[in-house]
Amino acid sequence: MPYQPLTGQRALVTGANSGIGEGVAKCLGAAGAKVVVNYVTATDAAEAVVKEIVTNGGQAIAIKADVSKEAEVEAMFQQMFKEWGGIDILVNNAGLQRDAAFTEMTLEQWNFVLAVNLTGNFLCARAAARQMIKQGVTKISKAAGKIICMSSVHELIPWSGHVNYASSKGGMRMFMQSLAQELAPFKIRVNSIGPGAIATPINRPAWETPEALASLCKLIPYGRVGVPDDIGKVTVFLASDDADYIQGQTIMVDGGMTLFPEFAHGG
Ligand code: BGC
Repeated sequence: MPYQPLTGQRALVTGANSGIGEGVAKCLGAAGAKVVVNYVTATDAAEAVVKEIVTNGGQAIAIKADVSKEAEVEAMFQQMFKEWGGIDILVNNAGLQRDAAFTEMTLEQWNFVLAVNLTGNFLCARAAARQMIKQGVTKISKAAGKIICMSSVHELIPWSGHVNYASSKGGMRMFMQSLAQELAPFKIRVNSIGPGAIATPINRPAWETPEALASLCKLIPYGRVGVPDDIGKVTVFLASDDADYIQGQTIMVDGGMTLFPEFAHGG
């Protein structure tokens, strides 16, 4: 029997047409959830994710929306509620990098990263929380709803050359914890996952050549780069009732990247 702790639950994953979001959407689908595959570009890629979930016996639909735009986010959630009557799991995954040396960083690069990575979380979590509060606890889960934010090891590890990105993830930590405190009385669980180096398009230059990969692996005590499935499986656990007493936490899924690996040989 497959492990399907999310049978019948309704999930929305932002930025689910590629990378970690794609892996998360597929894992949620395999765990029995119905999945909205949100995307903003590459309709074909989103439809391919839907097709794979459906082919494997799950249910999924693709909905286009830019998570940084209030009207688009509201329309997406309304469409989901019309199709499936509500939401049980939100995975705030959409995120991007626009790297630059600090003195070269444009306001546009700063604003774009903050808008998608942080404001997108706010808009989606607000729309989901309003509905989850309305629904309350039902037979489907011990919680009225689960909100999972896709943070990063960089909510803890400072990152030169990526000040906009690291600021968005540091902000996400306080966003998630404050929200967890506020929504706990409504039985809504809010947590984050902090992926380390997961091989996806966002960090391709860091793993695509043998030299880059060797240098990256020096930062990972466990000695391998992650894959989207590593994150998808933890997302399934965090969304399930097995994690019912976990509230306001970031689970680092990073092969030990946050363990100050250079101290294994010095200090
Ligand atoms: C970034 C990746 C990076 C990883 C580890 C992630 O949050 O998006 O580009 O490889 O952190 O540094």
